[in-house]
Amino acid sequence: MPGSVSFSHEDARRYYDWFGAKQDTQGFYENAALGALIENGAFCDAQAVLEIGCGTGKFAARLLSDHLPASARYVGLDISGTMVALAKERLEPWADRAEIHRSDGGFDLPAFGMSFDRVVFTYVFDLLSVEDISKALSATHSVLRTGGWLCSAGLTRGTGGLSSITSAAWTWVHGIKPSLVGGCRPLALTDFLDKSRWRVVHREVVVSATVPSEVLVAEAL
Ligand SMILES: C[S@@+](CC[C@H](N)C(=O)[O-])C[C@H]1O[C@@H](n2cnc3c(N)ncnc32)[C@H](O)[C@@H]1O
Repeated sequence: MPGSVSFSHEDARRYYDWFGAKQDTQGFYENAALGALIENGAFCDAQAVLEIGCGTGKFAARLLSDHLPASARYVGLDISGTMVALAKERLEPWADRAEIHRSDGGFDLPAFGMSFDRVVFTYVFDLLSVEDISKALSATHSVLRTGGWLCSAGLTRGTGGLSSITSAAWTWVHGIKPSLVGGCRPLALTDFLDKSRWRVVHREVVVSATVPSEVLVAEAL
């Protein structure tokens, strides 16, 4: 069962404080999925975006420079002080409308504002415990305006061939020692969505360098 091996908030903070800027080397499997998320996330219509686990601010910089309206506000949260510092530095050109905060790892999202048009998670749900995934989804629903979109990309199960071998091997390594894979393991976020609260707008599995990622856009009902 995904999530049966624990990677605590403290484990995540310690690991990503150490990993820091090396996160950007993961583009060889993340970039194609992030591109699909941008294609399907209609960010040009968003005035307020919240990102959880913003990492180095790479995705935020892409949104702010090329996709969000010039008037849009961005709020990023991360549990790692190293990541918060890197993201603040990277987003300096948009400091008048982009803010980054250190998170305690919980999901008190209303503390950072309400009525977001998009809440973004890229390669974050896949390192949360099953309990935290439910908390994060519920908190996300509470801060999205009605009709707002959850936008997620993350590791998922393979679709056959090499991608299935890669996801099985990844799950196996995670089961031995989660920190060997940054706490992340393949899962299907759609399995966690309450159909009475979310409508799936777009879902696809993107495979890059044999690594499968689930790209999911879901509307808060
Ligand atoms: C795999 S990295 C992905 C970073 C970035 N979203 C990307 O796609 O490059 C996971 C990020 O989530 C952060 N993180 C982990 N658990 C978190 C939590 N409970 N709350 C906020 N951020 C968290 C980590 O510090 C790290 O920056």
